Amino acid sequence: MLSLRVLGLETTCDETSAAIVEVSRDGTRRILSNRIRSQIAEHAPFGGVVPEIAARAHVEILDRMIDDALKEAGITMTNLDGIAAAAGPGLIGGVLVGLTTGKALALALGKPLVAVNHLEAHALTPRLTEEVGFPYLLLLVSGGHTQLVAVEDIGKYRRIGTTIDDAIGEAFDKVAKMLSLGFPGGPAVERAAEKGDASRFALPRPLLGRPEPNFSLSGLKTAVRLAAEAVQPLNEQDCADLCASFQAAIVDCIVDRTRMGIRAFRQQVGSPTALVIAGGVGANRAIRMALQRVAMEAGLKCLVPPPALCTDNGAMIAWAGIERLRRGMTDGLDFAARPRWPLDEAAAKPGARA
Ligand code: KG4
Ligand code: ZN
Repeated sequence: MLSLRVLGLETTCDETSAAIVEVSRDGTRRILSNRIRSQIAEHAPFGGVVPEIAARAHVEILDRMIDDALKEAGITMTNLDGIAAAAGPGLIGGVLVGLTTGKALALALGKPLVAVNHLEAHALTPRLTEEVGFPYLLLLVSGGHTQLVAVEDIGKYRRIGTTIDDAIGEAFDKVAKMLSLGFPGGPAVERAAEKGDASRFALPRPLLGRPEPNFSLSGLKTAVRLAAEAVQPLNEQDCADLCASFQAAIVDCIVDRTRMGIRAFRQQVGSPTALVIAGGVGANRAIRMALQRVAMEAGLKCLVPPPALCTDNGAMIAWAGIERLRRGMTDGLDFAARPRWPLDEAAAKPGARA
């Protein structure tokens, strides 16, 4: 096996990140650096990510982040074997910043470019930190995506289920906004939920028991809004109880939908090697614990990358770059940024959020 060292650039949403990942001849993987700068402070006054602000913030800082990543790794650009840049899906202004920078570096250094699908990077992250072979069942839960995917090989994905409306992270963010808990919502809701009574509000569990492993969140979100309106003005305890009740409903849905996903995987693909959780929502402890139980029940290993590799980061882009590069899968400098880029191009609706 070749030893490879790749620079990864991530700019698809509100994190600017540059990272260097290395794989040695014996297959050992090492993250040499993973510099991440979150734009949370810039977007917080607006309660969500503002695309123009995001693109500008990426442009202003990316060069410096790359320098810092190289310094921390103790290498220079000439020691790189390739450049990997997230080329979508995401906010197009930001994607262009990272992809164009990646192309310029690849051209100037005469190194190969890998245009990485951000979702593929989330999907492959567990292979950076653990030994896991194909095929595995991936639950991708982030701010923009909620999908159950069969990862059959690099570049070979089959969508087993998806959300028919909101993404789970988006639901967390919207509930947090409703309750004035700040942005991003996931961690704030999780924190509030710890002090709350999950049985106080009876909230719906959309699609529970349905055989197709899809998700639906909008009814639950509306139910939270109605419950909040019914107790106005909300004190801190009301708010904690609502968050706990909401999180419990989400956990029940995820557990049931993932069980159905495992069943569908066995019917459509065969035996999964593991249940893998990826995306920012994977940082939620209640969700992680519930999914560990689901995996155990099904006799599967449950793999969740550490929280810093669950949320957006350059190391996952560099790693996806290595996975592709070592199979000779590189891209031309004319590769166009893609605001939408589903993992499973063949998958029909519903959802079509990718
Ligand atoms: O993967 P990610 O960093 O960005 C993309 O959307 O691609 O995921 C961000 C999402 C946000 O919606 C955020 O609220 C959610 O992940 N999130 C969480 C937690 N930490 C982040 N949701 C629930 N609980 C958390 N602890
Ligand atoms: Zn992401």
